[in-house]
Amino acid sequence: MSGVPRDWIAGRVTPLRGDIVVPGDKSVSHRAVMLAALADGSSRIEGFLEGEDTRATAAVFAQLGVRIEAPEPGVRIVHGVGIDGLRAPGAPLDCGNAGTAMRLLAGLLCAQPFDSVLVGDASLSQRPMRRVIDPLSRMGARIDADDGLPPLRIHGGQHLAAIDIALPIASAQVKSALLLAGLQAAGDTCVREPHPTRDYTESMLRAFGVDITFSPGLAELRGGQRLDPTEIHVPTDFSSAAFFLVAATLVPGSLLRVRGVGMNPRRTGLLQVLRAMGADIREEPSAASVGGESVADLVVRHAPLHGIEVPPTLAPDMIDEFPALFVAAACASGETVVRGAAELRVKESDRIATMAHGLRALGIEVEETPDGARIRGGRLSAGPVESHGDHRVAMAFAVAAQLADGEVRIGDVANVATSFPGFDALARQVGFGLRGA
Ligand code: S3P
Repeated sequence: MSGVPRDWIAGRVTPLRGDIVVPGDKSVSHRAVMLAALADGSSRIEGFLEGEDTRATAAVFAQLGVRIEAPEPGVRIVHGVGIDGLRAPGAPLDCGNAGTAMRLLAGLLCAQPFDSVLVGDASLSQRPMRRVIDPLSRMGARIDADDGLPPLRIHGGQHLAAIDIALPIASAQVKSALLLAGLQAAGDTCVREPHPTRDYTESMLRAFGVDITFSPGLAELRGGQRLDPTEIHVPTDFSSAAFFLVAATLVPGSLLRVRGVGMNPRRTGLLQVLRAMGADIREEPSAASVGGESVADLVVRHAPLHGIEVPPTLAPDMIDEFPALFVAAACASGETVVRGAAELRVKESDRIATMAHGLRALGIEVEETPDGARIRGGRLSAGPVESHGDHRVAMAFAVAAQLADGEVRIGDVANVATSFPGFDALARQVGFGLRGA
């Protein structure tokens, strides 16, 4: 292995200071490669996340016959083959750790003329896929999966019919899978959500010339449209910035600027929650927008936090930020209550269980509930914690360790490279105590 540590040892060194830029957005990077591959011609992607998840998506399209150049880090030139130009793969398509890759690809590939098999790593192989298989089957797709889990065996050559569907769960991945299938189906597909989710698929389809109507909670497109190549600028990932926002809020004496952060309102629920807890995070508009997404510099100063009841309606807007929020809650005065976040149980790990277990190991009182937790803030002690191979859990505990009485050993951190390669170096640069073990 190339020097990637299995564990981290973390503990506080100094107040956090600096001016940093986090890597490109994972959700946007996946979609950029997918849509560029389907376009009729070459597209350039700038700001592409060089993470394992998004590289897995690029590797899948290479297997499907799409030539992708990487002239420099963060740049891809994708020579799109057209929506009917993909080639039958010679082997299973490996999505690695990436749920986004597998679910969106299921929607895309079920309407193609060839068979394909989608596989993933141990974590992805435990994640529920019925949420995409069932609605895609209603459109006419044929996908086999034992117990609704990967691998997904997709039988190509089906003629899909459009669907008008009200989804039972708020999931951008499911919505996006249906839109990619709908693009290849006869008729108008309409997806209605119980709560609006990130709309990157919709806005990016429009950037590729597709006629699509969308508003929060609703997306509608006509099948049979083709994609024009374009240039995509990927904003930086709010979910990666989140660890630094929480860390600088918690560590006394900190002052940190995180530059040019993607501020899609369906992603920034954590900001509202942290501010309600007492955080001092200022937004300074930077560039007008990046790739149609608004961006801002976020300036964070240390501030003491107090516990709150997190409004359940905000859960979809901060769905990837709960590990970081749990750490904020552990360091706040009083109790923080999280409800309406049952989806956390089916992420890269069961994030309610992994965070509760780890925080308890550090001396914090946490009561798990089926859809959330009650966290009583307190002093964090030293101790070993496990990330269970979950990138966001590993980074959340690296933040927690900055507040602990002694060193914290965080197990199984290699998967941080799925979403945030270089997190440890950037964290050290601003003052984290963090080293590989
Ligand atoms: C994502 C949607 C969310 C999120 C995931 C990325 C996406 O998942 O948790 O990290 O890119 O569409 P769900 O659709 O399962 O909520």
